[in-house]
Amino acid sequence: MSRNEDDKTAIERISQLRREIERHNYLYYVLANPEISDRQYDALYEELQTLEQQYPHLVTPDSPTMRVGGEPLSDFKNVKHTMPMLSLSNTYVREELLDFDARIQRLLPGKIISYIVEPKIDGVAVSLRYEKQLLVTGSTRGDGKTGDDITGNIRTIRSIPLRFRSDSDLQAPEIIEVRGEVYMPKKGFVELNQERRKKGSELFANPRNAAAGSLKLLDPGLVARRPLDAVFYSVGELEGLNLATHEELLETLKTFGFKTVPRYWKCGNINEALDALEHLRDMRQDFPFEIDGGVIKVNERTFYPTLGATAKSHRWAVAYKYEPEHAETTLRDITIQVGRTGVLTPVAELDPVPLEGSVISRATLHNADEIKRKDIRIGDRVIIQKAGQVIPAVIEVNKSARTGNEKIFSMPPSCPVCGGPITQSEKEVALRCENMQCPAQIKRWINHFASRGAMDIDGLGDALVEQLVASGLVTEPTDLYNLTKEQVMNLERMGEKSSENLINAINAGKHRDLWRIIFALGIRHVGARSAQVLEQHFKNIDSLMSADQETLETIPDIGPVVARSILDFFRSDRNQKLIKRLKESGLKMIAITIRENQNKLAGQIFVLTGTLSSLTREQAGERILALGGKVSDSVSTKTTYIVTGSEPGSKLAKARKLGIQVIDEEQFLKLTE
Ligand code: IVH
Repeated sequence: MSRNEDDKTAIERISQLRREIERHNYLYYVLANPEISDRQYDALYEELQTLEQQYPHLVTPDSPTMRVGGEPLSDFKNVKHTMPMLSLSNTYVREELLDFDARIQRLLPGKIISYIVEPKIDGVAVSLRYEKQLLVTGSTRGDGKTGDDITGNIRTIRSIPLRFRSDSDLQAPEIIEVRGEVYMPKKGFVELNQERRKKGSELFANPRNAAAGSLKLLDPGLVARRPLDAVFYSVGELEGLNLATHEELLETLKTFGFKTVPRYWKCGNINEALDALEHLRDMRQDFPFEIDGGVIKVNERTFYPTLGATAKSHRWAVAYKYEPEHAETTLRDITIQVGRTGVLTPVAELDPVPLEGSVISRATLHNADEIKRKDIRIGDRVIIQKAGQVIPAVIEVNKSARTGNEKIFSMPPSCPVCGGPITQSEKEVALRCENMQCPAQIKRWINHFASRGAMDIDGLGDALVEQLVASGLVTEPTDLYNLTKEQVMNLERMGEKSSENLINAINAGKHRDLWRIIFALGIRHVGARSAQVLEQHFKNIDSLMSADQETLETIPDIGPVVARSILDFFRSDRNQKLIKRLKESGLKMIAITIRENQNKLAGQIFVLTGTLSSLTREQAGERILALGGKVSDSVSTKTTYIVTGSEPGSKLAKARKLGIQVIDEEQFLKLTE
């Protein structure tokens, strides 16, 4: 086949594969109704990838293989919105919705109007610009006039069409800005946080933060791994298409291949709209994304110019926000949880009650002050709410339900776990168990130390930690390194093999990355990510330990609070001893990159002669020692290198005689880099 014919066949197959793959993307990601198995899909995808590798000149940006291809950016570019991205005016009060309707009636006397009610998705607003049916830019709202160019990140969201669906009968507009919301589905959010907990990364407070945080990542490769999705409900600039109603807008976007709001209600008047909003409230848990309210929009787009806008929002739409859901239940008891740092947290033990899709039986009471302030008593009927949509909290007491049998709670005088003394520092409301040997503290500490994101000690789970602490074998992390197989075998359910495996797993940790050790130490506010930054900057634990507040604060990602906490940690006598013992146990507290270099010059003997221009003799000596080499004053047959500066002495002549390798300053610097 000639090159041309060859290309022609490839072009045909490539475009056929792209159409097929995007059709399956649409069926899977937009309609949630796949026609083929994942394996069949992968086969199509791989065939396309191979062809595109063979014919790189045929690769186009709208190819499904190009969704994850973007390079990491150093910063986002700005995008000026051709039409401002306004917000919605919103209210929690039904009467204000009647005012909204009255104003519209006033501005459009005698006109027949209808409303559309749709869910208000709690995500991140985005605007996607399509020219000639191709996605050209994706941007955030920013200040409404200018946003961030997040095109690379947007492309990774599989339900977003890179090109309009070709089987739409409608004439596609020349230019259209499609606007909507990028969100993280509730299920994906829970899974992502579970994964992050295992890795020791900071958790996202709610799906919206997770979506916003993901879209802010500068590497589209990372964004592609976040479970993001998007729905669309509005347009900005529009050329070459007429959309008479909002309903038509939604239906048209759907035919172009967009996911639109999964449910909307067409209402003849404001009362129907209010009913629809109540209906929506009742079913708010049924959506795959979080909704924080409903939106009423005038359906007839022809009226929009007359209705106009304020500086912030259009007058043809209003959001009705739902208060977070509450539930009432009985508080049976208050128990105390002792944290890794000894903080005592009161926890409400509740009669199980459903709330926002899960059954709640415990809620945090934060601290003793909070209990006093809210006058929470054991036996009370309490109102609970999800804080940040995840952790439930008791927000108030239903005092009208009191019988007189409720019991006032007071914090225990001593630690409920070890009986040790508890104190309250001036700066904090929290009470702490002061006993460093408190089993509850030790257990949490060891659990953290051994966790996947920290030292990653395989096989050291909750139950085993419990046994090790209860038996007194382990009172701090260093003890792990002194355990013997025999000691472990004496514990219940531990055989010879499993004991041996545990010891091996513990010892394997001695060669872990420095950041894992830093994270494992359990310094307050220092998560895995900060630990990585610290390793990168300091390379060894000693430099980190001697850093002052100012130095710490210059490091990216380390703010004043984290810096303070690091200082406090290393200032403590107990922690200094801990580090010393960990070192003695054989933990390498140096970055692996440095460790590898450490013995680079082992066994090599250097002799210096003459004056070096960029280093003193002492500095040159330190460089050699740091890499495991030795410095000698006199030349012998054992000398590996003689380093010559300006005006070298008699040593050089001797070295030459003995055939020793002579290097100059430049070569020396390179060797000891
Ligand atoms: S319409 C007026 N519809 O809520 C045209 N916005 O609090 C633009 N939002 O900025 C907004 N769901 O990011 C519209 N169904 C929906 C929405 C929605 C969520 C967001 C949007 C807006 C914010 C205002």
